[in-house]
Amino acid sequence: MGYNSEFRRSIDQRDEFWREQAAAIDWITPPDTIWRAKANGHGEWFPDGVLNTCDVALDANIRAGRGDQVALIYDSPVSQTQQSYTYNQLRDAVARFAGALKSQGIRKGDRVVIYMPMVPQAAVAMLACARLGAVHSVVFGGFAPHELAVRIEDARPKALITASCGIEVSRVIEYKPLVDKAIAQSQHKPEFCVVLQRPQAHADLEAGRDLDWEALMAGATPAEPEPVQATDPLYILYTSGTTGKPKGVVRDNGGHAVALRYSMKLVYDANPGDVFWAASDVGWVVGHSYIVYGPLFAGCTTVLYEGKPVKTPDAGAFWRVVQDHGVNLLFTAPTAFRAVRKEDPEADHLQRYDISSLKRIFLAGERLDPPTYEWLKEHTGLPVLDHWWQTETGWAICCNPVGIEMMETKPGSATVPSPGFNVQVIDINGAQVAAGEQGQIAVKLPLPPGCMTTVWGDDDRFRKTYLDPIPGYYSSGDGGYIDDDGYVFIMGRTDDVINVAGHRLSTGEMEEVVASHPAVAECCVVGAHDDLKGQVPIGLVLIKDGATIDHDELEEELVEMVRDRIGAIACFRRAMVVDRLPKTRSGKILRRIIRQIADGEDYSVPSTIDDPAILEEISEKFRG
Ligand code: COA
Ligand code: AMP
Repeated sequence: MGYNSEFRRSIDQRDEFWREQAAAIDWITPPDTIWRAKANGHGEWFPDGVLNTCDVALDANIRAGRGDQVALIYDSPVSQTQQSYTYNQLRDAVARFAGALKSQGIRKGDRVVIYMPMVPQAAVAMLACARLGAVHSVVFGGFAPHELAVRIEDARPKALITASCGIEVSRVIEYKPLVDKAIAQSQHKPEFCVVLQRPQAHADLEAGRDLDWEALMAGATPAEPEPVQATDPLYILYTSGTTGKPKGVVRDNGGHAVALRYSMKLVYDANPGDVFWAASDVGWVVGHSYIVYGPLFAGCTTVLYEGKPVKTPDAGAFWRVVQDHGVNLLFTAPTAFRAVRKEDPEADHLQRYDISSLKRIFLAGERLDPPTYEWLKEHTGLPVLDHWWQTETGWAICCNPVGIEMMETKPGSATVPSPGFNVQVIDINGAQVAAGEQGQIAVKLPLPPGCMTTVWGDDDRFRKTYLDPIPGYYSSGDGGYIDDDGYVFIMGRTDDVINVAGHRLSTGEMEEVVASHPAVAECCVVGAHDDLKGQVPIGLVLIKDGATIDHDELEEELVEMVRDRIGAIACFRRAMVVDRLPKTRSGKILRRIIRQIADGEDYSVPSTIDDPAILEEISEKFRG
């Protein structure tokens, strides 16, 4: 069957289609009901199915005879470690850690925050939670204590799992002081913390609260998988929205397992035994879906890489990993290859390695710029496949469906909608636009399995953000168009979300931090184009009347505040003092135009602008 007929069937015979896909999963009780409506066109998948996600990822592979196959390879140039776990070994480690958590009182439905670097124990902790039916919430290690505190406060975890340190290119980052600070800031306090001691830094443990990972493991009795309803939450993953309060995207167990299993074939054409490497971090959705769960659901070997594309030690790092582990499928963010290309424009490093195992390269997380696409294609001679998705959807909304039919690629396009996603382009009045015309990208409800079920603790926010803006549709927050051949082109966010080196961040949140400086009267933060990172934030600030602070000093303080509150990953390095901000007559800051000015693009002066002369003043500032 070709792509078109599979896509049509997924929409026209939805339940039959997903019942077939669900059969690929080892259920405890297979679902009878496939989809049940809730409200506003939204619904739940496989509501009467029972399974355990960890069992599907590990035990089911062992039952299928893959116990001695390598499940996970840990490759860490920053700690000079390589280590692999077979499915048997990984299951044993996970069952033991699950037993350890159980002995400390963790039960089905309890939340566990995981704040860890890219070590195999991060995946072990996630899978151990899944084994108990506990809900994990992984927080990216690059976030500052304040961000961690906000997530602890919202998820209200019973336990927090961390390590003594993370290792960056030029420094060791001690995690324990960050965790202590976050817990001190949060109203909610976890009952206990588990700390993995790494040789690069020793963490002091607080008596009565902190437990040593190794000691806990040594005395633990392995735990069996706990049966959960398909609709029970598997995890909460916080993602940036338009305000300072991140949204806790909730993912279920059953829909997630079915969708990811299907996506491994559809999007990546991954088969059992393939070596799959998603060069990302477990703190992001890519890490959840394609470092931990997806490859294991599909019986692949997954690579967990603690390093960077460059400087660990050089721009040949990715090719070295491909060679060392016989990687067949590689997935990363375009920014990673922009960094490689910048340091090694002629791809000289590629000549040093044998990458003949590699079949395809997949990119997502931000727009794949045509020069990076062409460079990769030219130097590797491999298919380079863009796909578009979001934390909210958990798997590709649009892809080149290589598992069914390899389609022609078009630079700048994420190709076609994945079966299950009825993608349409809608104008501001809620009407569908003609082919080639730009608008908001929306998905006609219901969403397929695997997508977010709600915002943790705030169903109202879920509806208001995603379902209410265009009735009957899921609003993606991205703008773009579909061409005459049905190819989807994603042009960028229509809200205050920006993408910095593949990291999703909120300019609204940065504005809140900048605005809290005592000398700042008003401010706005926009994402400006950056050749390496895709986008970087730039602040425009108005100083309060009477404040006498030096502009450079203010910039330094603001940069430090954003680093301290959000984290170094925000890459907020520029704050310009201006006399006025361009606004509409109703007082709305014209952020889009500021961004166009920052990027040196042409812009049209809107009729609603309060005073057009301000735009020239701002342009002057950027030129200066
Ligand atoms: N823990 C703590 N700090 C972290 C961190 C982590 N996990 N990740 C990044 N940081 C810090 C860095 O140390 C750096 O701090 P500094 O300002 O003190 O130097 C800052 O955050 C910015 O880091 P980074 O974004 O990595 O910028 P860079 O210039 O060092 O590297 C790239 C640029 C493109 C090589 C890098 O961003 C990269 O590898 N990007 C790919 C991202 C990715 O895989 N995203 C997942 C989506 S699929
Ligand atoms: P995240 O939730 O961190 O995965 O970020 C999701 C956002 O990243 C999307 O809403 C898009 O704005 C952007 N994005 C992800 N993949 C692509 C892609 N292939 N092309 C263009 N933008 C993308």
